[in-house]
Amino acid sequence: MANTLSFSVPILLTALLCMTVTCFNEDQSVLLQFKAHITSNPLNVWPYNWSSATSVCHWTGISCGINGRVTALNLPNMNLYGTILPSLGKLSLLSVLNMSGNSFHGHLPSELANLQRLELMDLSHNELSGGIPPWFGNLTKLQYLSLYGNNFTGSISPYLFSMINLETMDFSHNFLQGSLPHEIGNLPKLKILRLRYNKLSNPIPAAIYNVSSLEVADFMFNNFSGSISRNIGNLTKLREIYVAHTDIGGIEAC
Ligand SMILES: *[C@@H]1O[C@H](CO)[C@@H](O)[C@H](O)[C@H]1NC(C)=O
Ligand SMILES: *[C@@H]1O[C@H](CO)[C@@H](O)[C@H](O)[C@H]1NC(C)=O
Ligand SMILES: *[C@@H]1O[C@H](CO)[C@@H](O)[C@H](O)[C@H]1NC(C)=O
Ligand SMILES: *[C@@H]1O[C@H](CO)[C@@H](O)[C@H](O)[C@H]1NC(C)=O
Ligand SMILES: *[C@@H]1O[C@H](CO)[C@@H](O)[C@H](O)[C@H]1NC(C)=O
Ligand SMILES: *[C@@H]1O[C@H](CO)[C@@H](O)[C@H](O)[C@H]1NC(C)=O
Ligand SMILES: *[C@@H]1O[C@H](CO)[C@@H](O)[C@H](O)[C@H]1NC(C)=O
Repeated sequence: MANTLSFSVPILLTALLCMTVTCFNEDQSVLLQFKAHITSNPLNVWPYNWSSATSVCHWTGISCGINGRVTALNLPNMNLYGTILPSLGKLSLLSVLNMSGNSFHGHLPSELANLQRLELMDLSHNELSGGIPPWFGNLTKLQYLSLYGNNFTGSISPYLFSMINLETMDFSHNFLQGSLPHEIGNLPKLKILRLRYNKLSNPIPAAIYNVSSLEVADFMFNNFSGSISRNIGNLTKLREIYVAHTDIGGIEAC
């Protein structure tokens, strides 16, 4: 009995403090650091009420769990300009990251691979560059990943397809080249695959006809070649497939 108390009281106190005004927890200092590296307009005025005087949980765009740890960072369409700091990888309970429609540039730091709770990541409409990092494969809880409309180059790593819970993968409007890896067949929940406007080439791998969850496949404006196999009939949930403006010749004859 005494033991139970001595453990639960400090946890409870921490939780209470973090839900009220002054919780200088690690997540808060990470986000203040992040803010210090970002500008948003010529006057360099941060557009949000992020201040060390109030709990991080009460800041615009932030959601916390019951323990006062940050679980969501929603900062879409705020014209933010800067790089994605490696220390964001310390927000270890983050499950939602939406920074769509800003001007983040530079590479994605590998420390983000520590965001093991991440379920949704929307970095669409930014200017991120470099390769799409293979460590995305470590984010096995991720269900939604959009890198639409960035400056990513290089090929699609086969390691990415370890994201076994992924339902949406959107890499449209980048500068990706090379093949679509046959490991695409390892994504048992994939519903939406969007690759429109890249420079991807070679035939679509046969393994895709194993992804029975697939509903939408968009290959438009690429250099894919070959033909679509008649095994496409196995994909009973497929509603939309786009192959225009590629070198795909059509559906394989019977
Ligand atoms: C910050 O702004 C949000 C609305 O954007 C509001 O809900 C929140 O209460 C504000 N927090 C503080 C500490 O003023
Ligand atoms: C991210 O935020 C934008 C703007 O509010 C929204 O349109 C988009 O759907 C969000 N992304 C996800 C995956 O919810
Ligand atoms: C990803 O996971 C593998 C295997 O667990 C590990 O060796 C690697 O260091 C991880 N990558 C990153 C960037 O954390
Ligand atoms: C991203 O690509 C666009 C279009 O090619 C280019 O105008 C822009 O300068 C690039 N941005 C960065 C940060 O590389
Ligand atoms: C489809 O899945 C089955 C069962 O896992 C496997 O044996 C087969 O090789 C896969 N087909 C392709 C083309 O990857
Ligand atoms: C699709 O269906 C055909 C015909 O029923 C079958 O031979 C094939 O193994 C199935 N799987 C794939 C991945 O094409
Ligand atoms: C790649 O495809 C585009 C159309 O999407 C086409 O204009 C271009 O000529 C193709 N390039 C090669 C090398 O086939």
